[in-house]
Amino acid sequence: MDNKKIIVTGGAGYIGSHTCVELINAGFEPVIIDNFFNSEKFIVDRIEQITGFKPSVIEADCADLNTLSSVVEDLGGLAGIIHFAAYKAVGESTAKPLDYYYNNIASTTAMLKLMEIFNIHNFVFSSSCTVYGQPDVLPVTEESPVKKAESPYGRTKQVCEDVIADFKKANEDLRAVSLRYFNPIGAHPSALIGELPLGIPNNLVPFITQAAIGLRDHLTVFGDDYDTPDGTCIRDYIHVVDLAKAHVAAIKYLIDQEKGLYNIFNLGTGQGNSVLEVIKTFEKVVGQNLDYRIGPRRPGDVVQVYADVSKANEQLGWKTGLSLEDALRDAWRWENSLKEKK
Ligand code: NAD
Ligand code: WQD
Repeated sequence: MDNKKIIVTGGAGYIGSHTCVELINAGFEPVIIDNFFNSEKFIVDRIEQITGFKPSVIEADCADLNTLSSVVEDLGGLAGIIHFAAYKAVGESTAKPLDYYYNNIASTTAMLKLMEIFNIHNFVFSSSCTVYGQPDVLPVTEESPVKKAESPYGRTKQVCEDVIADFKKANEDLRAVSLRYFNPIGAHPSALIGELPLGIPNNLVPFITQAAIGLRDHLTVFGDDYDTPDGTCIRDYIHVVDLAKAHVAAIKYLIDQEKGLYNIFNLGTGQGNSVLEVIKTFEKVVGQNLDYRIGPRRPGDVVQVYADVSKANEQLGWKTGLSLEDALRDAWRWENSLKEKK
């Protein structure tokens, strides 16, 4: 490999930290850019504990092009940029739209500017299945229409995908992919890194593990009267380690391309599971019952969405290897390790 160094923005965050581990396992040297807005510095030590390699860290805001330009200049040749850094809370984005537009879109634009200035060719962008809204046909392929965004957060992902497409048209050297993640869950099997939700979790699995460990009184299932087999919503839950490995596959894929390109890939398991199936699987895996109650629907929830992942399987040469059971077991181990840390 010519250039081993690779910039990972948001590399101390949930998906970014797991990706750093897999990049190091594959022989890369991640350079993390993070402002630790939604992550903890000890995660970088944990990456070292798992892999034996400590990524260097640039503590900076990704939207701060001037500061980043002076630092990136000193890094030398780079394999590319994997851009995770963003705000991601859907509900909060409705209350603070400008924060979301500024942070997510300015950061992505600044990263592309860095690529232009320093002749960096390979770009991997964290997008989301949220761009599909409620799809008309399942499973969702990359050709499925992008629906009007339900939230400012979702719109930032759509806009960033368009920004990359426009930049590609103007820059023949650019090789870029947008990876549309479905529902990442779980943690590293070592239980050294995982998701660190701020306050009350919005997402299902961290809420389940916090309820099971006693941090929350009970889990509310948001509606059981949907048009699905058991009445609860269906999602495509992917183990974060499988997702992390897809980023290694994506960067290798880009390095192999001779000419510029921009491509989009769904990253999921291809399988849908209902909320009740997730709860039942969790109960089976941890051997304990969960206190859950059926509540009203959550506004804005899509009924069901799961991915067609054949494009990523074929073109990236990647496929998932871990199950829902694995992911819930690892999420539970991580929750327990946090309790021990306190
Ligand atoms: P996360 O919040 O755990 O990680 C994001 C990291 O980026 C954090 O360490 C945060 O401190 C950092 N960050 C945010 N803004 C920054 C800025 N301006 N400058 C520097 N650092 C900044 O989130 P995550 O779950 O790891 O998500 C990573 C990416 O994947 C995000 O772009 C998110 O939108 C996308 N995504 C996440 C999910 C999910 O369910 N977790 C699903 C689809 C897409
Ligand atoms: C999953 C299911 C809930 C919590 C969000 C973002 C999306 C993407 C992935 C970033 C739903 C139900 C949840 C609870 C519940 N992120 N649920 N009780 O809604 O698919 O997507 O994360 O791009 O943009 O919107 O994930 O984990 O919030 O919910 O019943 O306490 O669990 O109704 O059916 P979602 P989620």
